[in-house]
Amino acid sequence: MINRVLMPREILIGGGSRFRLPGVLKGLGVIRPLLVADPVMVRLGHADALRDALMREGIEAGIFSDVVEDPTDISVAVVAERVVAGRHDGLVAIGGGSAIDTAKAAAIVVTTGEPLSALKVPRIVDAVVMPVVAIPTTAGTGSEVTRAAVITNAAANEKMLILGTAALPVAAIVDYELTLTCPYRVTVDTGIDALTHALEALVNRNGNPHAEALALSALQQIGANLERVADNLDDHAAREAMMLGALHAGLAVSNTSTALIHGLSRPIGAIFHVPHGMSNAMVLPLVTRFSLSSAPALYAAAARALGFATEADGDVLAGDKLVAAFEALNRRLKVPTLRAFGVDRRRYFDLLPEMVRQGLASGTPNNNPRIPTASEMETLYRLAYEYEGV
Ligand SMILES: [Fe+2]
Repeated sequence: MINRVLMPREILIGGGSRFRLPGVLKGLGVIRPLLVADPVMVRLGHADALRDALMREGIEAGIFSDVVEDPTDISVAVVAERVVAGRHDGLVAIGGGSAIDTAKAAAIVVTTGEPLSALKVPRIVDAVVMPVVAIPTTAGTGSEVTRAAVITNAAANEKMLILGTAALPVAAIVDYELTLTCPYRVTVDTGIDALTHALEALVNRNGNPHAEALALSALQQIGANLERVADNLDDHAAREAMMLGALHAGLAVSNTSTALIHGLSRPIGAIFHVPHGMSNAMVLPLVTRFSLSSAPALYAAAARALGFATEADGDVLAGDKLVAAFEALNRRLKVPTLRAFGVDRRRYFDLLPEMVRQGLASGTPNNNPRIPTASEMETLYRLAYEYEGV
């Protein structure tokens, strides 16, 4: 059995590590980077502080600050043009998943010259592209260490998955201090996204011992700290632990892939603009219940790592506790139902076939312990809408 494990060439972890960026870029030979910054990071002064730190080391950086939520092929093209026009030789993303995926996709477009719609899965884009350094500002997406970028096809209103080493940042700087200003909803939603990455890596049909170790570490960190950070957004120790959990979850999922939760969640996000972690949360209990019997030992291990079950609990009981705990977590973290979020019932049900088509086309449902048929996918979508919480 041969496992292929991919991760960035360099990962810096710790409070204040963002100020090591000049040294990281010098190590890569990058002298004229473009900072792709989330507008919030610009407003808070983090982007300018990094640019000043670079300037002191003789590195002249440009700043692109018009990153949009759920980046599209069109918004990525704007960044790619800016890279070419400014003769930049690398990209530094500072922000959440949208900023990081924008930078990754722009590097791919600039280097390959191909449109993203031609590069999406099932194609695997293993290629050397312009260097990307990722500095995440949320504890969640894991995009700083994954070989995946999710970009919406603006014309088709569909999330495209770009997969391969071309989408893997060459370096990641994981500094939890950047998450201290992250508001409640973003903190919680991205935290659940990280939890979902760890869970889907652990139970994945592409599972391997390396991803399993990282996923269990992530589940332990997230289980002990997600509610803690939700209760006190200024809890530095909890913020630091969540950042580590999200990093390990990202490394785990990058070396397996996502599964049915993400498969169902991405079309909901693309069509109804539900934030990514929130749409994962909306289907998390449901998909776990659906999948439990196909991998009872792994779901039980997840329940124990999260602290939702004990070693004394048998696998079946631990699995039941996991589903109940996910339902309770959604309630406690105020995850809205689809209806409460404002998704129109008629439009949702009219678009069921399209959501099923997009979900299956992403390929990730096939990585789930229990592989759904198209009609089971539709049933899960129906149940997700009717779900009113407990
Ligand atoms: Fe995710």
